[in-house]
Parts: sequence; structure tokens; C-alpha cells
Amino acid sequence: MTASREHFSSRIGFILAAAGSAVGIGNLVGFPVNAAKNGGGAFLVMYAVFVFLICLPVMIAEMAVGRNTAKEPVGAFKSLSQGNKLWGAAGFLGVLTPFMIAVFYMVITVWIFGYIVLTLMGRLDYLASGAGFGEFINSPYLYLALLVVGGIVSFILAAGVKEGIEKAAKTLMPTLFVMLIVMVIFVLTLDNAMTGVHFFLIPDIDKLTPKVINGALSQAFFSLSLGMGILLTYGSYINKQTNIPNSAKLVAITDTGVAFVAGLMILPAVFSFNPEINPSELSDSSVSLIFTFLPKIFLALQASLGYVGASAVATFFFLLVFFAAITSLVSIIEVPVSYLVTEKKHSRKKALGYLTFTAGILTLFATASFGMVSFFTDFTSYAGASKSFFDVIYDVFYDTILPLNGFLLCIFVSYRWRRKQLSEELSIGNKNYKGSWVEKYINFSLGTFIPLIVLLIFINTVATKFFATSLFGL
Ligand code: TRP
Repeated sequence: MTASREHFSSRIGFILAAAGSAVGIGNLVGFPVNAAKNGGGAFLVMYAVFVFLICLPVMIAEMAVGRNTAKEPVGAFKSLSQGNKLWGAAGFLGVLTPFMIAVFYMVITVWIFGYIVLTLMGRLDYLASGAGFGEFINSPYLYLALLVVGGIVSFILAAGVKEGIEKAAKTLMPTLFVMLIVMVIFVLTLDNAMTGVHFFLIPDIDKLTPKVINGALSQAFFSLSLGMGILLTYGSYINKQTNIPNSAKLVAITDTGVAFVAGLMILPAVFSFNPEINPSELSDSSVSLIFTFLPKIFLALQASLGYVGASAVATFFFLLVFFAAITSLVSIIEVPVSYLVTEKKHSRKKALGYLTFTAGILTLFATASFGMVSFFTDFTSYAGASKSFFDVIYDVFYDTILPLNGFLLCIFVSYRWRRKQLSEELSIGNKNYKGSWVEKYINFSLGTFIPLIVLLIFINTVATKFFATSLFGL
């Protein structure tokens, strides 16, 4: 371990930082709506099983590789494979992926910031009007917002692991929990709130089609920050006293818990707005839900709270989402930062400078993908649909490469690094690990069915996204 590598100051700091990474925009809106549409309680139970039996071992393995090598993905894969070039390339994919995901996530976070400003300025009625969003995403003011959000993220990252990432997580995450609970309590007092809770919780097993099952597993995988190199990098900042399996379990519980509680906020709100709605009518896209549908719900609150009150609730909600997004952005940009610092020996400030510049330019292009510049808007086409620059980044990196990275990690840990070493690493800080059933389960699953399942998801995504066919005939 290099003497100069910074560490999280406490276990709780690490857990909050990792949970901050995992809890994002998808937990707060995408997950609840998906669950309500696709089987309610039955979906929730299935999702929880996926989180604990399939995703958790991958999370634990990522953290173990990080702590063992005290490096980011490229350095870690290289050092544990004795400099093998192909594994080095797999590690590089683990740095490129978060870099590209940061670009599209930045665009959405900038929009959220824009919504905070506009609701504060009293423009909720504009955002709730059908035309609002279409105009908003082409506004030149977005570039100003990009500067602000980029500035906040760089500011946190420049302060380092302990003073930046950990401090931000320790401030923002508890704030987020409190805000979420306040929102839930408020929303549950609205008329028809219980109809929403009903759709969220009552199980409907018939809705669990192969497509839904596949979607739930991919969502669990993404939601937990797997395959992004983040947990590996954060793992390289923890000390040898930390009990990795336990910490990972808490991260998974927090991420899933926030998604669950968010359901008690979103669905009652949806049903109090329109008691007649059938969840299947709700959009599949988190973007259209957050940016076009929710503002309508907030505006409807003016009947009871007045326009100012309704705007205040909207600002509060977008601030909550913003906090969730900032901690995710910080974590994902830390991966390439750590790569430039560890492998390329740049100073942290210089690494951040490079990344802000390169990712900044790509973000400008992605922001211009919604009509501002036709080259980026009609960037290419595949599977019979025209795709913007933003869509391509999303489809390629978020949807496709993530499961591939997960697959490579499982194979790497099981067959190159070897399970024995994994067990050694995991028993540091956890005396009872060796010989436990947890060890047996992790070692067996990571070398067998988990990579197989993740590989199937990857192949199915490639088939659906790029060739418009599906393994499941759906
Ligand atoms: N849970 C996040 C979401 O739902 C997905 C995610 C996990 C993420 N880690 C991330 C997004 C890091 C961006 C960066 O939005």
C-alpha cells in the first residue's frame, strides 16, 4: 500500500459515501414507478432477493479488490494479474465507463438544478405546462447551470477523500434521509394517498414476466453502483479493520431502503393527483416522470397550499433529488481522478483539471443533443431509431457495458485472482468469515451463476438495444 493513499476516517464515512454513490435519481422516481407498474409487492420481494443474492457478492468482491490493491480499476486489474494486458484493458473499461456515465448523469443533474432555480423563481406553472420541458432543455442558461454544478462537484473532489467525498456524504446523506421522511409524511396526508400505497405494496405475481425480471435485475445492479469501478475505488480508501461484507450489506440496505421509502412518497403523490390513473399508464422513462409529470402534481397542490406553497414543495423535492445526484456524480468522477493520480502520477488538482475539461466538453455536446445542435441531436441511428449523442452514451455505457464490467469482475476475481485470495482479504477485519456459509455462498456464486446471469443480461441488452430483438421474445 502506498503511504500517501488517503483513507476514509471512519467506517460510517465509507458506508455513507458508498450509499451516497448508489442512491441516485433512479431510486427516487424510477424504482417506485417501476415497482408499482410491474407487480407491486411481488416486484419488491424479487428485487430484494436480487440485491442480496446476486448483487451483494459482486459488491463485496469489488470492495475487496480495491482494498487489497489500494488502487483504482486499471491499477488493481494490472497488479492482481501480474501486468496482463488483457486484464489491464478490462480495468481500463472500468475507468472509461464511469467517465462516460458521468457525462450523461451531469446533464440530468444540471436539469434538476435548473428546476430548483425555476421553482424558486415562481415558474412552476411553466414547468408544469406541456411545452415547458421541451423549451427548458434547449435553454442557453443550462450552460450557466452546468458551470455551477460542475463547480460544486469539482470543489468537493478537490478537497480529497476525507475532507471532500466523506464530508459531503456525511452532510448530504442524513439531510436526504430527513427530507425524504418529511416528504413521505406530507404526501401521506393527501387525499387518496392510500390507493398509491396499495399499488406499491399489494403483490401481483402475474406481472412478473421474463422482461420484468430481467429489468429488475439490471436495475438492482445499476442502482448499487456495480460495474462502475466506484466501489473498487472507494474500497481502496478503507482500512484493514473494516469488515467488508458487513459494510457492503449496510450499503445495499440503505440503497434499497431509500428506493422503498421513495415509493411511499411518489405513488401516493401520483394517486392523489389522479385517483383514476392505472400505473401501467405511467411512463417508463424516469426523465419524463421527473421533468414533465411531477411538476403537474406539484402544481395541483396549489388548490390546498396556494401557489407559493406548491412551489416550495417542488423546490424541496428537487433539492432532495439534487443531493442524491451530487453524491453519485462525485463518486463516479472520483474513479478517473483516482486513475490519473494513481497510475499517471498527476496531482489531484491537475487530474481534476483534465477531467473537468474533457468531460466538460462532452457534457456540452450531450446537453446540445436535445435539439440545440442537429449534429448531436441526430447523431446516428440503430435498431430502427434515430439516436442523439446523449442516447448513444446512455445505451452504450449505462445499459450495455455495465453488465459486461460486472461479468469481467466476477471472472477476474474467481479465476485470476482466485477465491482463496478473496477469502483471505475478506477475513481481514472479519474473524468469523472463514468457514462461514457467507464465504461458501460468495465463493460459489461469484464463480458460477452470477457471471452467467450477468452475461445473459449483457447479451440480451445488446440484442434489444442494437438489433431490436430479444432473448425472451418480448
Ligand atoms: N442509483 C443510481 C440512480 O438510480 C444509479 C447509480 C448508481 C449512479 N451509482 C451511480 C448514477 C453513480 C451515477 C453515478 O440514479
